[in-house]
Amino acid sequence: MAESVPHKQGLAPMPRVQAVWEHSVFQRELARLGALEQDRVFCRHGVQHLIDTARIMWARNLEFGFGLDREVVYATALLHDVGKATQYESGEPHELAGERLAGEILASLPEGAHFSDDERAAMLTAIRGHRRLRDDAEPLERLLYQADKASRACFACQPEVRAACSWSESKKNLIICV
Ligand SMILES: [Fe+2]
Repeated sequence: MAESVPHKQGLAPMPRVQAVWEHSVFQRELARLGALEQDRVFCRHGVQHLIDTARIMWARNLEFGFGLDREVVYATALLHDVGKATQYESGEPHELAGERLAGEILASLPEGAHFSDDERAAMLTAIRGHRRLRDDAEPLERLLYQADKASRACFACQPEVRAACSWSESKKNLIICV
């Protein structure tokens, strides 16, 4: 795991999130996905989307006072589409493949980088539920669902791509919102 050194821009290191990022299964899936989405004209699911989702989740967590742990929020966002390459290749819904792969990653983080059993359960519930919002969704699950959708800059999309996108017009982010 990378050293946790103070950052000159004043940013706080997140050792458990870093361990997720560096995990061989995570990196393998991210590389597979990058190759599979190389020519995709619609929104991709690479690191920019994952970090955008994390930051929106964190901002909303602060704004609404949910009190969620920062590393739990960021690691959940990083992991939420980890099943996407599997969906492309096998057709298995990526929220289910993602729950399984994220569980594998979270269960094999290095010494000192573990999330608690309760944290892991909440993270896996959020990943499993991130495509359809359940009525009784947990806070982390709801936050992920909302941030995942809010992260997409439909207002900046090329008109022909926007027109062909599978999202309904009502779901698209056609103006800049918070
Ligand atoms: Fe996503």
